[in-house]
Amino acid sequence: MRDLTPPKDTLDPIETASIDELRSLQLERLRWSLGHAYANVAHYRRAFDDAGVHPDDLRALEDLARFPFTAKQDLRDNYPFGMFAVPREQVVRVHASSGTTGKPTVVGYTQDDVDMWASVVARSIRASGVRPGMTVHIAYGYGLFTGGLGAHYGAERLGCTVIPVSGGQTDRQIQLIQDFAPDAIMVTPSYMLALIDEMRARGVDPSGTSLQVGIFGAEPWTQAMREEVEATCDMHAVDIYGLSEVIGPGVANECVETKDGLHVWEDHFYPEIIDPVTGEVLPDGEEGELVFTSLTKQAMPVVRYRTRDLTRLLPGTARTMRRMEKVTGRSDDMMILRGVNVFPTQIEEIVLEVGELAPHFVCELTRPARLDELTVKVEVRDGTLTDDRRAEVAALVRRRIKDRIGINAEVALVEPMSLVRSVGKIKRVEDLRER
Ligand code: DLL
Repeated sequence: MRDLTPPKDTLDPIETASIDELRSLQLERLRWSLGHAYANVAHYRRAFDDAGVHPDDLRALEDLARFPFTAKQDLRDNYPFGMFAVPREQVVRVHASSGTTGKPTVVGYTQDDVDMWASVVARSIRASGVRPGMTVHIAYGYGLFTGGLGAHYGAERLGCTVIPVSGGQTDRQIQLIQDFAPDAIMVTPSYMLALIDEMRARGVDPSGTSLQVGIFGAEPWTQAMREEVEATCDMHAVDIYGLSEVIGPGVANECVETKDGLHVWEDHFYPEIIDPVTGEVLPDGEEGELVFTSLTKQAMPVVRYRTRDLTRLLPGTARTMRRMEKVTGRSDDMMILRGVNVFPTQIEEIVLEVGELAPHFVCELTRPARLDELTVKVEVRDGTLTDDRRAEVAALVRRRIKDRIGINAEVALVEPMSLVRSVGKIKRVEDLRER
């Protein structure tokens, strides 16, 4: 893998500004954002009044803790455009989250918002090691999902040649990678695995393509998965994070030179970590739920939006801005077995340690009697693996799950290519309990 560290003089000045400079910019912007939300969104006016706070009460960044949280339900209650802070005519774009339950959540952007978004995604792509003039293959879905268009505008802004493939049509993706020779790919990590399968099926060596960087996000993935993909494809695997309610992709991104967590682009999105139960703000370094307040968004400011993502904030390294550790998981994906919290990422780490196992697995939850049971279904890499060895491998995985997570899970080894592949966000937990 080539050293792709971006030259320092290509970074935005704020990326390497002093902490003091950053904090004073944040305070100024936060004052504006709270005032904007209060003045223009009925929901925020009511919520602030109910909590007995006013935007003028914000004198220091810490005062943000006195303001009320915003939850996904608040966006649903104000469906579709009730959270907008500008007249609808000034909204140039809407996106929406798929919303498997209930109404989708709708988000809106002014022209300035679209520009800001492009700039933070461009910054993210540059941090990943991509330079102007490189070619970027985008396999995030285009449409109401923010992944495709968010990546697209950012890559264009950076000055790249963009190949807007969107998700799906896996065979064509491989053809285009071979014919157009992109330097970088932006895709969910799980769909990257499907692309690798397809390459192999077509006799294409995944380590021999033109790709030098993969910018992976929209779902949790582990350090073990990074090692797997980097080794298989001989390219850098870098993490991009974001969520529609805050802007889309480009809220935080890893730097290719350190790969030590995702720098939060704090000049636009102010992060806090809270105790998910008490709502209390936790100090940097402690794990909890990530909360964001937008600092510059016009069409749809968010105040203390609860992401449900679990992580920690760490000091900056390659950039001034704080890092968030790779997300452990969403509270929605958390399985609780006999009182123990389990995330698919913990299973992923264990599965990927075992050479005989492919990085394809699913966690099935059942309730055969009164208690929940977890079965981890995982593909073997090689279908000719003997029954004896399969039994040993399954026992090994079972033991590691027991030792490290503290739960008893069934482990079922299945044939190569037998589990469903994702084209976008993968569903790692199959909940069969309701049926
Ligand atoms: O997934 C935006 C996005 C698109 C990010 C492409 C990165 C790349 P939503 O559909 O609103 O937006 O889903 C947001 O996805 O709260 C996390 O739970 C999860 N997520 C996104 N990026 C990561 C990541 C997009 N890098 C939700 N690691 C978030 C872990 C992620 N989880």
